[in-house]
Amino acid sequence: IPIDRYRNFSIVAHVDHGKSTLSDRLLQLTGTIPINSDKQFLDRLEVERERGITIKAQTCTMIYNHKGEDYLLNLVDTPGHVDFRAEVSRSYASCRGALLIVDASQGVQAQTVANFYMAYAQDLKLIPVVNKIDLPHADIDRVLDQIEEMFELDRNDAIAISAKTGHNIEQILPAIIDRIPPPAGLKTDPLRCLLVDSWFDPYMGVILLVYVADGSLKKGDKVTSAFTRRRYDIKEAGIMHPDRTPTDALVAGQVGYISLGMKDSSEAHVGDTIMHITDIDKIEPLPGFEESKPMVFVGAYPAEGTDFKKMEESIERLVLNDRSVTMQKETSIALGQGWRLGFLGTLHASVFQERLSKEYGTSLLITKPTVPYKVLYKDGTEVIIDRPDKFPDLAVQKTKVKQLLEPMVDTMMTFPQEYIGNVISLCENGRGTQLESTYLNTGQVFLRYRMPLASLVNDFFGKLKGMTKGYASLDYEESGYDEAELQKLDLLVNGVAVDALSAVMHKSEVQAAGKEWTSKFKEFLGHELFEVIIQAAVGTKIVSRERIRAKRKDVLHKLHASDLSRRKKLLEKQKAGKKAMKEIGRVQIPHEAFEGFLANR
Ligand code: GTP
Repeated sequence: IPIDRYRNFSIVAHVDHGKSTLSDRLLQLTGTIPINSDKQFLDRLEVERERGITIKAQTCTMIYNHKGEDYLLNLVDTPGHVDFRAEVSRSYASCRGALLIVDASQGVQAQTVANFYMAYAQDLKLIPVVNKIDLPHADIDRVLDQIEEMFELDRNDAIAISAKTGHNIEQILPAIIDRIPPPAGLKTDPLRCLLVDSWFDPYMGVILLVYVADGSLKKGDKVTSAFTRRRYDIKEAGIMHPDRTPTDALVAGQVGYISLGMKDSSEAHVGDTIMHITDIDKIEPLPGFEESKPMVFVGAYPAEGTDFKKMEESIERLVLNDRSVTMQKETSIALGQGWRLGFLGTLHASVFQERLSKEYGTSLLITKPTVPYKVLYKDGTEVIIDRPDKFPDLAVQKTKVKQLLEPMVDTMMTFPQEYIGNVISLCENGRGTQLESTYLNTGQVFLRYRMPLASLVNDFFGKLKGMTKGYASLDYEESGYDEAELQKLDLLVNGVAVDALSAVMHKSEVQAAGKEWTSKFKEFLGHELFEVIIQAAVGTKIVSRERIRAKRKDVLHKLHASDLSRRKKLLEKQKAGKKAMKEIGRVQIPHEAFEGFLANR
């Protein structure tokens, strides 16, 4: 099949608007999967199915006969959420068009808008598709109005379908062929191949999903990565149809997979260019290589009595499968050895946490999420605060610090109009600035706020859902760094800071957080043998204070003084019991106190 009969496209949609159902329909229509397969083919990971979201891009090639000629159609699946921005934009880079799906009963939602902006920025030809027209409250006209107003797309270009019943499905592929241009690129040029995605296969090692922009490749070719400069032999090449199907070659315009015998996903960088070794100094890599940076961090610590090595191995396995998670060892005086995990965004973090807690239950403690603050020093150095203990001691270093900065996001929300008052207060309390508020003809509002990422990681979505009876949708994009008055709040036990419990936050939040911390920690600490003072402090300034009175637990008082051996035994037992505790400020703190405090913070 010649390149002018290739079409590479993806599907842009809000969660639940029917992307997977439509994909499955298209695969069935082209005979790529059997008609009666009721499993959603493209959503393979279990957690994804449970949460109804697509995390990893999965791609599929179809062959379709149109007016007597065979076409090679590549559906490049993209994660729906812009947390996975790097993956989304790499997937879009391999496409020249996309189906923009909108649910006929719900209309345009926050994610539709966020994903539209990204697709538009990459110059994709968009085909509007109104889905779920079989629903009784479907209102096609209303949605077409929105498509015209918000996206400036012609309503006459829209296709109204039901992915569920299959109604009008047959119009989709011809529209793709007629309206989306074929990929550019020449088979005879030197190879330039974009790394779109990668995953780990237990038998084959790392599999790379690639888009061949120029040239061609085949099994046995000697290639290299523009980024790492490592050399490889192509062990296998082929298309996803729907599973890996080896082919003789992959040529310009095609999307497929290659195996290079990589042992470790960390060698695979999304956006990297693969080229032939012989061309290495002759050609430029493809544009747009961008390493994804973690934007949300949590500390993870095994609970008391858990096998650290075993847990580390299995977390490493999870991380290996999602190369966007970063992992570093971390040691805390209070909690012992653990890890600092970095995620692309709040959704990414919560999906991964869910996987962890499914696997480990309460045996893994997860600290509250933090964001990468930045310190700019006067000497020009810049430090990313990915953990609270990297925050400068302002009492000592104040004169050296030029600026404290926090990451900002452009937040997009849609929800029914009646909740606008509450949502605006939520955003303003989160230190947001309004950018846009548009009343939609569906009775919904589209609201855009620029706000600190820190406000978003603090269960913002949970609160938003709570105050809109679950009707709100949310998406966001990174929006640079702003100067902010940041402080580090410490929890002190008898004057000594408990390292794992510190947090960096905006000045305006310190007072309330301090009060909450001390009263919570008191609750979980319970009674102690000595008097304990719990304080929350910024530097030397005490923000909040609680006191626990001494309550001597005298194990000996019932015994007769002459019963010496018994007495010794009891004392030893008491000593052993104390070993499981951490001594901070000469106070023995049971591990459960930290566990309770962290779990409830
Ligand atoms: P993500 O994978 O999370 O992005 O969701 P999705 O957009 O892939 O949505 P999915 O295809 O999983 O569909 C969501 C729900 O809508 C499912 O319960 C589908 O059965 C249902 N659905 C999809 N298309 C239609 C349709 O045309 N009509 C009706 N009535 N329901 C549909």
